[in-house]
Amino acid sequence: MRRSIATIFIAAAVSWGLGAPAGRAAEDYEALPAGPDRDAVYFNCSACHSIRMVTQQRLNRERWDELMDWMVEESGMHPLQPWARKRIVNYLAAHFGEEEEDWDGLPPGPGREEVYYACLPCHSLAIVKQQGLKREDWDETLVWMVDEQGMPELEAEERALILDYLSAVYGVNRAGGGS
Ligand code: HEC
Ligand code: HEC
Repeated sequence: MRRSIATIFIAAAVSWGLGAPAGRAAEDYEALPAGPDRDAVYFNCSACHSIRMVTQQRLNRERWDELMDWMVEESGMHPLQPWARKRIVNYLAAHFGEEEEDWDGLPPGPGREEVYYACLPCHSLAIVKQQGLKREDWDETLVWMVDEQGMPELEAEERALILDYLSAVYGVNRAGGGS
């Protein structure tokens, strides 16, 4: 049943009549780091200009967000659905931020990328970062996000990584947290 967002984007792209990238387009595609929203960025942002226009930029989240308005108001880009826009801005800020990588303040570690992409579409990560929970409570939070809040079901492997990350970084014995 579960379809990843990337699959949905590919499906959407195909139904808009765009095929898989080939030739020079494939080179452009390769310029985008792999990630769940790579396809969305590729298909939305290489329609009018080379993707290099995008990949050569280093902007913070706010400026990427403003750029979305500019592309729509001045350059004729079709407005994105709010959720798609948020995902695209997240991807751009993560990979083409002012810092090498902007993970919205998530400390490095296995599972960081998965948490970032799974949790940011609906709410700020502040709501996640302020917690200090036992693993079983994080587990329940994930169940709650899926059952009640509409988070797509996570694949087992991804879910395990997310749970490891959250309970290690935002567990009851948070490093740097109040003792
Ligand atoms: C409908 C056409 C269209 C689409 C779709 C589009 N752009 Fe653009 N974009 C333009 C035009 C036109 C310019 C101005 C080119 C110029 O400066 O000559 C531009 C310029 C840019 C620039 C350069 C800004 C600068 O400071 O020079 C960036 C970065 C950019 N676009 C990013 C994006 C991103 C990210 C997306 C996808 C979310 C996107 N564009 C989608 C038309 C588009
Ligand atoms: C589809 C949307 C969606 C996604 C994706 C999502 N959440 Fe949530 N989350 C919500 C909503 C809506 C609330 C607010 C629920 C409420 O307070 O009634 C919430 C609230 C929370 C809270 C606050 C709980 C509290 O006690 O206040 C935490 C923690 C949380 N989410 C963690 C996560 C984590 C971790 C992820 C990623 C693995 C995630 N969420 C992904 C929709 C989502």
